[in-house]
Order: sequence, then C-alpha cells, then structure tokens
Amino acid sequence: MAKRAVTMDKLVALCKNRGIIFPGSEIYGGMGNTWDYGPVGVEIKNNIKRAWWKRFVQESENSYGVDAAILMNSRVWEASGHTTSFNDPKMDCKECKSRHRADTLIEAHSKGKVNPDTMTNEEMEAYINEHHVCCPICGKFNWTGIRTFNLMFETSRGVTDENQSKIYLRPETAQGEFVNFLNVQRSTRAKVPFGIAQIGKAFRNEITPGNFIFRTIEFEQMEHQWFCKEGTDLDYYAEYKQRAWQFLVDLGFDEAHLRFHDHDKLAHYARAACDIQYEYPMGWSELNGIHNRTDYDLSRHQEYSGKSLTYVDPVSGERYIPYVIEYSIGADRLMLAVLSEAYDEETLENGETRVVLHLHPALAAYKAAVLPLQKNLAPQAKEILATLKKILPVTYDEAGSIGKRYRRQDEIGTPFCITVDFDTLQDGTVTVRERDSMQQIRLPAAELSAYLLEKTAF
Ligand code: GAP
Repeated sequence: MAKRAVTMDKLVALCKNRGIIFPGSEIYGGMGNTWDYGPVGVEIKNNIKRAWWKRFVQESENSYGVDAAILMNSRVWEASGHTTSFNDPKMDCKECKSRHRADTLIEAHSKGKVNPDTMTNEEMEAYINEHHVCCPICGKFNWTGIRTFNLMFETSRGVTDENQSKIYLRPETAQGEFVNFLNVQRSTRAKVPFGIAQIGKAFRNEITPGNFIFRTIEFEQMEHQWFCKEGTDLDYYAEYKQRAWQFLVDLGFDEAHLRFHDHDKLAHYARAACDIQYEYPMGWSELNGIHNRTDYDLSRHQEYSGKSLTYVDPVSGERYIPYVIEYSIGADRLMLAVLSEAYDEETLENGETRVVLHLHPALAAYKAAVLPLQKNLAPQAKEILATLKKILPVTYDEAGSIGKRYRRQDEIGTPFCITVDFDTLQDGTVTVRERDSMQQIRLPAAELSAYLLEKTAF
C-alpha cells in the first residue's frame, strides 16, 4: 500500500496557513487544547454536520432532531451516573509534575497490544510498576498511585454570591436527547422504534488532551439515540454499526483506513459496544462509538425525575421502557479524519509538488472558485460569481498566475475552478477544471449552477 503523505505537522501547518483551524486565543499565547475554526474550516465543519444531519435525520425514517440546552438540571448528571463515574484514572509524575492517564500510558507502552479497558485500577498500577513504564515527558519512573478524576467542568448558577448552586457544562449531548424522549414522542406522535438526534457542544476536563483537534476540552458531538423494544435491540445495533461505517465510506474514506473495535469490557448496563477506529497520522484511534445501552438511560431518568418514561404501544397496549442504541461521533474528530484522509501531495509533470485536499465535494468550503484569466476580465468574472453565489458557496481569486491560483484552491479542496477568458466574451463559455483529475472542459456559463449542484451533492 502506498505510503500516505499526511503527517500531523503538515496538516496543522496547512490548517493554519489556509484559514482552516487556528490555535485558540493565539495572540494571548494560546489556551491549551482549544482551537478556532477559520473562514474555510467553519464551512468544512458545517458541511460535515450537514451531511451527518441529512443522513441520520432528514433521510432516516422516524428520526427527529433536537437542540437541547448545554446547561442542564444537576439531577440529570446524577441520574446518568456522570457525577459519580465519569472519571479517568490519573497518575502524576512526582519528578516533573505532569499528569497522565494510566490507561493511555499502558496503551502507549505496549504499542496497543495490551487493552487497559479490561483492567481495574490496581491491575493498571501493577502493570506500570512491573513494566517500569516511565513518564513520557521527563523519562523518570516516580509515580503517584492512581486516583480518579471527574472530567466534568463545574460552574455555578445564581445571582448573588451567597446563593450559588453548582451546575455542569454538559460532557455529552446524549442526555439532552434522553430527557426529551417524552416531549419528542408526544409532539411528533412517533411510534417506537424512533430516533432522536442532536449536534452540539460538549466539554470535558480531559487529563491528556492533544493530537490537534483529536481530543480537546471543548468539542462538538453528533449523537443519535434509537429507541427500540427489547428483543429488537441486537439487530438494530448491527444495523447502526453498518450505517455508521457506510456514512464514512460515502464521505470518501478508504475502508483500509477504518476498522471496528468491539469492546471487551462493557459498562454494567450495556449489552454491546464498539468503536469505529480510523488510522490518523498518529496511528489507529477511535472515531466514533456505537453502544447498546439497554433501558438504562430512560429507567434512570424515570427513577430520578419521578416522571414515567414508560412507552405504551398504541396497538398492543404493551407497556415498556425502550432500549437505546446510541451512535455518537465527534464533529471535530471527524473533521480531523476527513482532513487526514483528504490530504495528498502529488508530483506534477513539471516536477513541482501540489498539495491537494481530495475532499468529498459536498464537504468542500467552496464548491468552485471563479478566476478571471486576466484582471481586465474581472467584471465578467464577478457577474458569474454573483449569479453562482445565490445558489452555492463560491470564492473568487484574481491575484497571481493561474497556476498559483489553482494551487491555492487545491490546498483547501475546492473541487472546481472556473476560468473566465477572452472566449467567454465571445461565446459565453468558461473553462471548468476538476481538482482531482485536473481535466478541463468548456461549459456555457449559464449551465454552471446546475452542473455544480449535481457534482457537489451528498
Ligand atoms: N454519549 C456517548 C459518548 O459521549 P464517548 O465515546 O465519550 O461517548 C463519543 O464520545 C464521541 O465523541 C467519540 O467517539 C469522539 O468522536 C468524540 N469525543 C469524545 N471525547 C472527545 C474529546 N475530548 N475531544 C474531541 N472529541 C471527543
């Protein structure tokens, strides 16, 4: 298999230079593990979210969207178990004072051969001692014991200092879907099985964030809960595994860069769980999760809220608490995978190298760039631009040689370049250059909108 050109350093540099992703609060020296999406990046990320929403809400039978509040009643997090169990096993290096996750240390030391998911804290501590796993920062071996660390960010609500109550920034969007189960079911008159989806921000005080936007402390999740009857859950779990995989393939992922990872250690309430892993520039790691969560979530919210979340089948009259198949994927993590997958360096006939993002056209920030061959053709080019802009996101560039302008568009993954030349003045046609093949065709400008809409759909 051909070696991939992408490295994390190249990707981070391209993202910064081309307005895709900038370090957060950069002029103040940054804010660790926060990132700001630039003019190109915000468009790509929005397109990723749109493609997901189209597939899992718009085109899905019986799936509905919500946009729930980030700040939720604290009882939600007691019911979900986050206040007591949303912990990571942390260890501090007594020499350099850096903080680490014990499971990550073991994974890195064993090069992925040992799965710490199946270990207790005591077993992890024993492994680290037996194998003399040293601090990856200072190289010394002088650890504290493992302590658990809750990942939720706390804040407080109240208008006076004396009257403050502790609340949390949500660490996942899923609970906003569970607490709205009844509202959605009643308002849409949905019958089980049905789904609730949400896209939104989540926050985690991660011990070991890093690898660019792979693991950050603020990120977006795209989550879908499928509520179904016990007994049908295993079939739906298998179906969601396939749907999650197919979504990635349809976005253009090479299946050789994807794999399922079935979990050995399940949460006490779960019946099955897996990730889809992707081969990022830093190696294989989780891209998304699919979980069979049984009736745990709705049962817990029923218990803690005192409100019945029992579903009554309108035909049989049967009463039950639905099972949940959860499909969860980080929008930023998918962005990293999409960029890693798309990045390429090609040697051209003249010996130059072009950097190109082979993005699925539906994900590209701009569907086309309008380029006047010479500056005096700008009025005609801008007329075409104005017409196209009403229908599609399109950009414009008149600076530098046509070759340089093609390169700039290749680097941000613009699928088509439209060159306006002197023939355009005569016959109303333009040159359309396709990004991947670099093939050029001649088209009437009047046909551009329809052509681009067809070629850039998802
Ligand atoms: N509701 C289930 C849930 O939140 P998770 O495995 O903790 O499960 C789901 O998270 C997905 O969210 C992950 O597969 C990943 O894509 C994304 N994700 C989780 N933590 C993240 C972080 N710190 N930074 C970026 N993305 C993250």
